[in-house]
Amino acid sequence: MTLIEWKEQYSLGVPAVDHEHRELVDLINGLYANLTGPGTDITVMDFLGELYARISAHFALEEKIMRDSKYDEYVDHKIDHERLLDDIRDLMDDYEDGEYVDVERFAERLDQWFSEHFRTRDARLHSRIS
Ligand SMILES: [Fe+2]
Ligand SMILES: [Fe+2]
Repeated sequence: MTLIEWKEQYSLGVPAVDHEHRELVDLINGLYANLTGPGTDITVMDFLGELYARISAHFALEEKIMRDSKYDEYVDHKIDHERLLDDIRDLMDDYEDGEYVDVERFAERLDQWFSEHFRTRDARLHSRIS
């Protein structure tokens, strides 16, 4: 099952970066397929934990590129990354507290964040450093 659909708004027009973002989206969908597939023993917590790990790995890579190139908007860009990671951690806390976690609703938030962040922060970054 697909949790987030790749859309034109995600595309920066930089093939290497678009490829990486596509991989990230595919990975998230793969995790979601594991969560919702038949006979699975993956819990929502496993799903969120893995989602967090994959997304933060992508961010860590970008942040290293920014530090290495002394990118002028490093701090603001990193703050935007942290915003999404905080959201995922909040969701994990909710789940641990026994609250219902609506994964599909979170996907809408993820979709909004990707649409905005890829087109603005990442597009600027990759136009400056490439
Ligand atoms: Fe990115
Ligand atoms: Fe980014």
